[in-house]
Amino acid sequence: MLKYISIAVLGLVVIVALIGLFHLYRVSNKNRTEMSQYQGKTVTLNQDLGKVLVVYYSMSGHTKEIAEIIQAKTDADIYEIKTLEQIKQNPKLHLAVREQLKTKSYPEIQTDFPDFTSYDVIFIGSPVWWYTAATPFYSFLQKADFQNKNVALFSTQGSNVGTFEEDVRLNIKNANLLKYEKFNNLSKKFDKEVENKITTWLNEL
Ligand SMILES: Cc1cc2nc3c(=O)[nH]c(=O)nc-3n(C[C@H](O)[C@H](O)[C@H](O)COP(=O)(O)O)c2cc1C
Repeated sequence: MLKYISIAVLGLVVIVALIGLFHLYRVSNKNRTEMSQYQGKTVTLNQDLGKVLVVYYSMSGHTKEIAEIIQAKTDADIYEIKTLEQIKQNPKLHLAVREQLKTKSYPEIQTDFPDFTSYDVIFIGSPVWWYTAATPFYSFLQKADFQNKNVALFSTQGSNVGTFEEDVRLNIKNANLLKYEKFNNLSKKFDKEVENKITTWLNEL
């Protein structure tokens, strides 16, 4: 009997591992196809966005990287959303975040935001957490009033943005939202393509 249970458990583990590998294979294929359109060229910025501010939350650095590229390209000011208690990757984080999203009890953040009125365009970026925005970003949305400024939203994620854009649209106050752009986490070998993707997006705003 124990032998059959062991075989069944092993079979299940193998199936789950194969599904995981297949998912990774599909995501990496999709990323490669997307990046191929930005390969082998340098897209130049052909519009002046005026005075720009970039606001972002980042726990592990991916959103920060994109925010800093936007900052460099647009000569922007930059502001990092910071939680009062630092959030770090840990085994319980996913469950804790799920609970925060369910109960809409978001982490406390610093509120020394820049004065939005002096900017022409404000970029706001967040990681995707549980198919929506990161909870510190929701804290920011609860507190920020964009006073009808042009706001360009971006996210970084593994591969699935879920309802990120729709959720932010529902929660943001007094913003004229421009085109949203999403950035999957990619290896360094795609840095040039990511730069081109960002410039292409900036040119479309
Ligand atoms: C709690 C948690 C939930 C996540 N949920 C998703 C998700 O639903 N979809 C996805 O594609 N990636 C998800 N990710 C991966 C992050 O979105 C991705 O790694 C992101 O680029 C991290 O940004 P950061 O480095 O700026 O913190 C999740 C990560 C964490 C920590």
